[in-house]
Amino acid sequence: MSDQPLKGQKALVTGASSGIGAGVALALAAAGADVVVNYVSSLAGAQQVVDEIKAQGQNAIAVKADVASPDEVQAMFDEMMGAFGAIDILVNNAGLQQDAPFTEMTLAQWNKVISTNLTGMFLCTQHAVKAMLARGIVPGLSRCAGKVICMSSVHEVIPWAGHANYAASKGGVKLFMQTLAQELAPHRIRVNSIGPGAIQTPINRAAWDTPEALASLLKLIPYGRIGVPADIGSAAVWLASDAADYVNGQTLFVDGGMTLYPEFADGG
Ligand code: NAI
Ligand code: BGC
Repeated sequence: MSDQPLKGQKALVTGASSGIGAGVALALAAAGADVVVNYVSSLAGAQQVVDEIKAQGQNAIAVKADVASPDEVQAMFDEMMGAFGAIDILVNNAGLQQDAPFTEMTLAQWNKVISTNLTGMFLCTQHAVKAMLARGIVPGLSRCAGKVICMSSVHEVIPWAGHANYAASKGGVKLFMQTLAQELAPHRIRVNSIGPGAIQTPINRAAWDTPEALASLLKLIPYGRIGVPADIGSAAVWLASDAADYVNGQTLFVDGGMTLYPEFADGG
């Protein structure tokens, strides 16, 4: 892969004011892309990512939108088209947890997680794909007309007690992604997911911010360390690049081995 495999490309990363989204936005920019940094609440966080990208010499803008709102998503894409004129890469990263034992989970908790983690991907991807189809392949820019990367989770395959809404959303992402990959491949649009394991971000602070919690978490990670957003950023760059041109409909687990049934290493 060249140093800047995404040179000249335009990317949108949802939920990019913190955590994995911020790491992915910075990595795509370092690989040569201009980036729309979407945020829903933290303008300061988004602006910091924008400033870092501009300092690296790429263009970036912060755009506020709730990915679960059709009107706000429409406005975000209008702003992106006005500023950048095209979209080559969509990273559907925005997501959240609202955890509860199943019998105590409210309908509001269920709906919030499904609408953000799953319906948000539907809304954003539909806008992106329409724009990718309308423009088609640009020779010299990329071998395909567009790339969609969905931020799934190890919990698209690992059941997770106390997180029925979240696990259902990520299980939904798996077949959403695969179905779009099948449907859009003839148009040379690639759709893939990244399945992170435990990455140190605000979403799972309780799992790493005390030595006891971290020690318990590390029992689930054969590689023996918690992940960082840059681990996901480099995977996203590769998936979006022509080096992955024949990769379509796959979930790339980036999880230090969390999906390897670690409890069987000395059991079973
Ligand atoms: P995070 O909480 O730092 O990032 C989530 C981002 O999504 C935040 O910036 C938040 O403001 C944004 N967001 C939430 N609702 C939104 C909405 N309606 N519209 C637009 N943006 C919205 O946590 P993290 O870890 O960076 O999460 C990013 C993605 O990675 C999520 O989809 C999460 O499910 C996924 N993930 C995280 C893992 C981890 O261990 N940190 C592991 C597996 C998946
Ligand atoms: C969750 C994190 C969790 C990780 C590994 C992610 O999908 O958002 O809270 O630490 O999976 O279990």
